[in-house]
Amino acid sequence: MKRLGVGIIGAGGIASAHASAWLELSKDCQLIAFADQDIRRAQERTEQFDAQFWFSNPYDLIARDDIQIVSICTPPFNHAELAIAALEAGKHVLVEKPMCCSLEEADKMIEAADRNERLLGVVFQWRFTQEFNRIKAILESGRLGKPILAVMISLWWRTEEYFKVWWRGTWERECGGSVINHAIHHIDFLLGLMGDVSCVSAGMGVFAHRIETEDAAVAIVKFANGVLGVLLASTATYPEEHRVTIYGELGSVSLPWELNLVDSRYQSEIEDWLKYMPRLEHGGHMAVISDFLNAVQTGRRPLVDGREGRRSIELAIAIYKSAITGQTVTLPIQHDDPFYTKSGLMNAIKERKQEFCSR
Ligand SMILES: NC(=O)c1ccc[n+]([C@@H]2O[C@H](COP(=O)([O-])OP(=O)(O)OC[C@H]3O[C@@H](n4cnc5c(N)ncnc54)[C@H](O)[C@@H]3O)[C@@H](O)[C@H]2O)c1
Repeated sequence: MKRLGVGIIGAGGIASAHASAWLELSKDCQLIAFADQDIRRAQERTEQFDAQFWFSNPYDLIARDDIQIVSICTPPFNHAELAIAALEAGKHVLVEKPMCCSLEEADKMIEAADRNERLLGVVFQWRFTQEFNRIKAILESGRLGKPILAVMISLWWRTEEYFKVWWRGTWERECGGSVINHAIHHIDFLLGLMGDVSCVSAGMGVFAHRIETEDAAVAIVKFANGVLGVLLASTATYPEEHRVTIYGELGSVSLPWELNLVDSRYQSEIEDWLKYMPRLEHGGHMAVISDFLNAVQTGRRPLVDGREGRRSIELAIAIYKSAITGQTVTLPIQHDDPFYTKSGLMNAIKERKQEFCSR
């Protein structure tokens, strides 16, 4: 089989995780080029990863006939524009999280993928973990009884220095803060386990950084399956804590891995049962990228495709809408809702200056 050509747009921090994984898969694909508006970066990455070409204009990379797959590693504000351009040019697209900045953008990306019969994948590497598979298997087996509560703690610590990068901390370019760019990993993880959310009530604020976007948020959600959830997201919290716990009638199960059953006799029985689950070959970006490559080769959908990626965007936007309006938000967010578009969210932010409970 002919090796597939790969191009990477955005040659900053996360691009190296993509490049390393594509290189490791070089039996089946070939890293051809990097594009970055900072041409020095594009050249450095090209030399570092033994690719062949570098560009300052991403459209020059997209125009190449020897590239069939494009990894998008730019800031969130141009994910949609670049992904759609690459899909229209007949490329398969793997885009970094967050998938984009609005539901309108997500729908346009999905539509472009469908119409051009190309694959669209979103990078959510925590979905490709043993913990995700084990928790899902336990929930599906009914061994936890009826699920009752879901608790997501997505507490990160980011310095003022971190936000000096030109796109971070802005609604225009990062499209949100701790919710859409950090906690979104755990939001995706939780949605993958619990299914759709039916309503959200949230608050948020900027507490510890000189930035526009929220550095702390709290949401109460109700899932369509009746489970209640509490979600914490922050980039202003030290020490960091990352935890997702599902409590059921018969006990609880968590990331990082922990299983606690009311009846301890079943504990070792279930742990033995889990040992028979297939072991994962890869983790991190390598897992996402090898899944995407295999999907392109076999024509199946990637584990996290555009429709899956859209779900975490919808919950993040619903959290913002609730925090800004002070109201409980019912999902799905409709096409005629102002919060469906990025401009609608931006206008609401300007009007309310995102105060929480200011009345
Ligand atoms: N999956 C993860 O764990 C993970 C981790 C870090 C970052 N990310 C995501 O990856 C994306 C990039 O983050 P980063 O930390 O690598 O950022 P970065 O600032 O280090 O790199 C982004 C690069 O994109 C380039 N760029 C921006 N617009 C461009 C355009 N139109 N054409 C060409 N190049 C352009 C910039 O010059 C920059 O070099 C973000 O969406 C971020 O959320 C994901």
